Amino acid sequence: MRFIMDKLIRKNQELSAILDISRVLTSSFNLEKNLHAVMESLAGQLEMQRGGVFLPDRLSRELRIVAAYGLTREEIKRGTYRIGEGIVGRVIESGEPMFIPNIGAEPKFLNRTDSRPRKSGVSFLCIPIELDGHIMGVISVDRIYTEEHGNMDGDLRVLSIVASFIAQFVKLWEHFRQTEQECGHLRSQLRDKFNLSNIIGESGVFQQVLKSVRKVATTDTTVLLLGESGTGKELIAHTLHYQSRHSKEPFVAVNLAALPENLIEAELFGVEKGAFTGATARRVGRFEMARRGTIFLDEIGELPFNLQVKLLRVLQERTYERIGSSESVFSDARVVAATNRNLLDEVAKGRFREDLYWRLNVVPVEIPPLRARAEDIPLLLDFYINKFNRMYDRNLRFESTAVEQLTRYAWPGNVRELSNFVERLVIMAEKDLIGREDLPYNLSSNMPAPTPITDEIAGGRDSLPGEVERIERLHIIQALREHNGVQQRASKSLGLAPRQLGYRIKKYGIRPREI
Ligand SMILES: Nc1ncnc2c1ncn2[C@@H]1O[C@H](COP(=O)(O)OP(=O)(O)O)[C@@H](O)[C@H]1O
Ligand SMILES: [Mg+2]
Repeated sequence: MRFIMDKLIRKNQELSAILDISRVLTSSFNLEKNLHAVMESLAGQLEMQRGGVFLPDRLSRELRIVAAYGLTREEIKRGTYRIGEGIVGRVIESGEPMFIPNIGAEPKFLNRTDSRPRKSGVSFLCIPIELDGHIMGVISVDRIYTEEHGNMDGDLRVLSIVASFIAQFVKLWEHFRQTEQECGHLRSQLRDKFNLSNIIGESGVFQQVLKSVRKVATTDTTVLLLGESGTGKELIAHTLHYQSRHSKEPFVAVNLAALPENLIEAELFGVEKGAFTGATARRVGRFEMARRGTIFLDEIGELPFNLQVKLLRVLQERTYERIGSSESVFSDARVVAATNRNLLDEVAKGRFREDLYWRLNVVPVEIPPLRARAEDIPLLLDFYINKFNRMYDRNLRFESTAVEQLTRYAWPGNVRELSNFVERLVIMAEKDLIGREDLPYNLSSNMPAPTPITDEIAGGRDSLPGEVERIERLHIIQALREHNGVQQRASKSLGLAPRQLGYRIKKYGIRPREI
């Protein structure tokens, strides 16, 4: 009877030790702390005197004690084994557990740690830590067996369960560490890439922009980036994030013009499980993904009117609700918004809420178009020709005549157009020195800076026939500008017969000489 009771008590202790250890191992990704806690737990519940977890060092492959119980710091330091050496080494080599009943009588026992003054009566258990046939390390334990205390079979059983927990944990920890290292590496690459020194421009107007960027990068205020397409709004949004103190948190970009209107709310704020048929799992919104980082709302002018209120609330109170939930979610994501529209116009037309406009407009940063800062063009040409030369292993150079010509060009697509142009040139050019005559025709003709046609098109809405005529007229003007008013060439580029062009020029009252 007494025997059975003892056995039950013992089993109970084993179970609670195992439970305890499984909890410890899932509590965090701190390798040494968790393994140390495992040894403490084993010592406390299974009356073990000493113990250690041995894992191979990543570089030297020598076994080292990662966590121990009952050993001093010095002893831990001494306790390195080479694979195949001593009992610990043999277990890792063979993958078979070993049990030494009395270490005083065992020659293989090296006692590297020199921590066992009374060898006699102490037994030594050593178990491999193994996962999918791969031996990752060993766990060893000393204990004194007496009549009343302990039995080897039980210990081996508990230790092999614990060893398999440790194996899983170490594997996860290795993945975790690797991912974290990669993340850190990528993050520092991003920090380098989105560094202010990679934003090119020394003109006075652009330096003003950079000054504001530097100032707001260190704050958490909402920033509104204004400027034509291709002026660098997204680049600056990235830079604001990677130079801020939230650079370790995510940067999440949402292009509101690219999303169908009926999906924007779900995309931004997420959907609670069961919110509608088909919502089988909770969907995380972009605000939630951005956590304490930055959310970049590109093309904010496209935000549907009914959602503008919801965004206003996020900006004012930092809270919102997922679709299908009444629970408020807190968000401390920093908001950076951008648009190429004139938001005040949108307000005047009743398409954009005035209160939201003012809330977004705390720190507006207006990026001037390239044609308004022509002195930056040579610098950008230089920056991009170097970049693409490196990328495509070429050695192109611009002659000064080409630079002058390109500086006169209006770049309606701004820096994006310039960068695309240089990349194309680096890929296609047949010689290294690029002169004015090597530039494509539309870039080499002398023309006054035209207003980008797309902007004029976006300017207003008309009835469809009216709209078509307006666009036709603008295309004709653009073509005439591009060909210095030479109708013959302009008609060719438009795909019209000269007679057809002449007819339209008259119809729209265009005066080619004045263009
Ligand atoms: N000042 C600048 N210096 C260097 N590259 C720039 C600069 N401004 C824009 N670019 C580049 O031009 C391209 C378009 O910029 P982007 O930020 O996408 O413009 P936007 O968002 O205003 O349309 C990107 O490749 C960007 O890296
Ligand atoms: Mg953009």
